[in-house]
Amino acid sequence: MKLYNIKENDEQVSFGQAVRQGLGRNQGLFFPSQLPQFDDVDALLDEDFISRSSKILSALIGDELPQDQVNAMVDAAFQFPAPIKQVKEGVYALELFHGPTLAFKDFGGRFMAQSLAAVSNGGKITILTATSGDTGAAVAHAFYGMEDINVVILYPKGKISPLQEKLFCTLGNNIHTVAIDGDFDACQALVKEAFDDAELREEIGLNSANSINIARLMAQICYYFEAASQLTKAQRENLVISVPSGNFGNLTAGLLAKALGLPVKRFIAATNANDTVPRYLETGQWDPKPTIATTSNAMDVSQPNNWPRIEELCGIKQWGLDTLGKGVVSDAQSAASVRELNELGYLCEPHGAIAYRVLEDQLAEGETGLFLCTAHPAKFKEVVDDILEIDIELPAPLAKHAVMELLSEDLANDFEALKTVLRKANK
Ligand SMILES: Cc1ncc(COP(=O)(O)O)c(C=O)c1O
Repeated sequence: MKLYNIKENDEQVSFGQAVRQGLGRNQGLFFPSQLPQFDDVDALLDEDFISRSSKILSALIGDELPQDQVNAMVDAAFQFPAPIKQVKEGVYALELFHGPTLAFKDFGGRFMAQSLAAVSNGGKITILTATSGDTGAAVAHAFYGMEDINVVILYPKGKISPLQEKLFCTLGNNIHTVAIDGDFDACQALVKEAFDDAELREEIGLNSANSINIARLMAQICYYFEAASQLTKAQRENLVISVPSGNFGNLTAGLLAKALGLPVKRFIAATNANDTVPRYLETGQWDPKPTIATTSNAMDVSQPNNWPRIEELCGIKQWGLDTLGKGVVSDAQSAASVRELNELGYLCEPHGAIAYRVLEDQLAEGETGLFLCTAHPAKFKEVVDDILEIDIELPAPLAKHAVMELLSEDLANDFEALKTVLRKANK
């Protein structure tokens, strides 16, 4: 697999390099030079999740890793299902929260851990990642206890749900968690600054597990195929998929699935009040505003990292950006949608409910709608309990961590202070 740097096209790397490096020069994202095409998608959809995903990922990776090895990686990473559930006539929820940390990030995080182990050159690696909530847990659990890999996770202090925090800040061992005095964009900016520091990068074997890492995105492609495989052929020919979006990795993966041949009529980018992309699609002006805190906090991102990949892909495929659906949902509307879904007999948290709201508003006659449920409702227990006046029972992984001690350290939004933490973690 060859990839190029979107910002500096002359930088070309292999899959292994892209996974090890994370970002290219000048903070450029890597993008595949060629995308395989699956001509017989129906046959592919007839296969089971693991063998189909192995085929997709192997076709992307090419001859850099043998098929058997990719099979083993997928088998180890995807040990949980991605079922769809009908919530009403023609509308389905894709449940991506059946992994160990109850969020869609388990797919990408675990496949990335497998990929890094497969392509590492030996020597110590430091994974530095910023999280708005769920990436942290998925990455921490995927890499926990792995030899020669230290993980440093930055998160905005006080701006993620207490249960999200408990799930990854209680592990210890090779997992170091840092509560930054700032918002998610500040955390993301610190990660970028670290990547710009060539000396530091070399010294501690810096790598990122954010959705900027291509291995994570590649894994996410697979569950779009898995969702379609559970629909009838007629339904998937009119399929509209609504994606709750923050950093826009999930939507990038969906569009990549379409580029590989998955028949999707339309994608919808659903956001909360952090609406940089919907406004951009409306006005053509990229005008990020300060990040606003919402009840769908994992989507509180005003400078979405993955957007350049979407523009690149749409440019290559000549898909006009105006073919992308968009919608902005307020906290009040998302709470009303959580209630609406509950009345339909479906328990959902605010991120999924945002995708549902926009889908419901925009789905046309004869179309089949799918909205992505990116986290288990219990991960946002405080918000969901409050909206529905219920007391959701914690699933086992959450209940276990909820009573454990937080091991995070607090840090100012300061790069020099972060460097000290990174060097210490690498010892
Ligand atoms: C629960 C949940 N939903 C949606 C998103 C947004 O996904 P993306 O950042 O890929 O757009 C996130 C990202 O952290 C998330 O944790």
